[in-house]
Amino acid sequence: MNLITSYQPRREQFAAQMQSGIAIIPTAPEHLRNRDSSYPYRFDSYFYYLTGFQEPEAILVIVAEENNSDTRYILFCRDKDETREIWDGFRYGPEAAKEIFNFSEAYSITKLDELLPKLLANQTKLYFSLGQDSAWDLRVTGWLNQVRGQARTGATAPTEINDSHTLLDEMRLFKSAEELQIMRQSAAISTQAHKRAMQIVKPGMNECEIEAELLYLFRRQGAQAAAYTSIVAGGSNACVLHYIENNSQLKTGDLLLIDAGCELNGYAADITRTFPVNGKFSAVQKDIYQLVLSAQEAAIAAVKPGNNWDHPHQAALQVLVQGFIDFGLCKGSVDSVIDSQDYKRYYMHRTGHWLGLDVHDAGEYKQNGKWRSLQPGMTLTVEPGCYIRPAENVPQHFWDIGIRIEDDVVVTKDGNEILTIAAPKKITEIEEVMYE
Ligand code: GLY
Ligand code: MN
Ligand code: MN
Repeated sequence: MNLITSYQPRREQFAAQMQSGIAIIPTAPEHLRNRDSSYPYRFDSYFYYLTGFQEPEAILVIVAEENNSDTRYILFCRDKDETREIWDGFRYGPEAAKEIFNFSEAYSITKLDELLPKLLANQTKLYFSLGQDSAWDLRVTGWLNQVRGQARTGATAPTEINDSHTLLDEMRLFKSAEELQIMRQSAAISTQAHKRAMQIVKPGMNECEIEAELLYLFRRQGAQAAAYTSIVAGGSNACVLHYIENNSQLKTGDLLLIDAGCELNGYAADITRTFPVNGKFSAVQKDIYQLVLSAQEAAIAAVKPGNNWDHPHQAALQVLVQGFIDFGLCKGSVDSVIDSQDYKRYYMHRTGHWLGLDVHDAGEYKQNGKWRSLQPGMTLTVEPGCYIRPAENVPQHFWDIGIRIEDDVVVTKDGNEILTIAAPKKITEIEEVMYE
């Protein structure tokens, strides 16, 4: 079994950018939920990106040499342990992990405090992400101080500390063909779950029943988990952007907003669909829905090389704001409403984010103070919305309408690929799926 085709080249690419020095990249800690019950374990995305190794209590150390062939890729991980394996499951142990995951060296995690000061000694540069986890910060500073304490032996500690995430964020931003293949599957599983929700929803059901169905569809199709807590928001709940209680009864005449996506082999999908609980959009719901859909289509059309990160957002805004004016929700010209930000009463978030191992994925949105240009392989969500809360100056028939439409989009050489294209979103498509 050799799981590893993409991880070693990534480690080499990272080490080449370090040029020389030592990188310390721990995985995520386990967290207790209460007493001795843990939250489901999820590895650290940076560590996983470079290793493919999913066990807790593991750390990657790279000692980069100018001459790349001497660079050391070292894994520290849990030892084999028959008793613990009976209770908690399989562990690779250093020996097997080294072979299977293709490290140049692997040691027991219990050797960390003994070996790390030795590995740090006489390196000038340290790559470590300070401030992510205070326990690791303390440990790393402890090792640095040990080396500093040996100054009279001639040992020197690194004098330059760089954030390892800066280089890795840039690598993670551009998805490889392999990553995109997983993301297509993750999107397909999530799409099925949204479709199923459209098919089963009925007035009188509770939001939690729909959430359960989504999770069932995720797991049944092989996804490990939801990539984030699902939002299943009927009626006015859809106007609470991060609504996750998911415990209200769904009423005829209301819309249902579902923002849910699975995580498959580490990669997130992030889809939002909004549809009528009773299967038929009312006239006013149709008006606002069509407006958000037109904004989303305009934004997706702006996802292409040559445009920058902000272009899809601006494209969505132009359409939304014109609609807000046409419906009497805002007053003035499109430019004046954008300048005054009056539109934020109904559209208060941006139009997307990078997507990948993390639902809000790694990568800078600006470079040198300018929105960065879109390039093939970048993967993002496009998710305009409209949320109309009751207010004196808003006609009552618009109240409590909350709509968002969110797709996952990859920038390609010629434009884009919509990973979530199969999730119904045209009014006629949705009504058809719900009627079937
Ligand atoms: N589901 C989180 C988001 O849409 O950003
Ligand atoms: Mn999103
Ligand atoms: Mn979302």
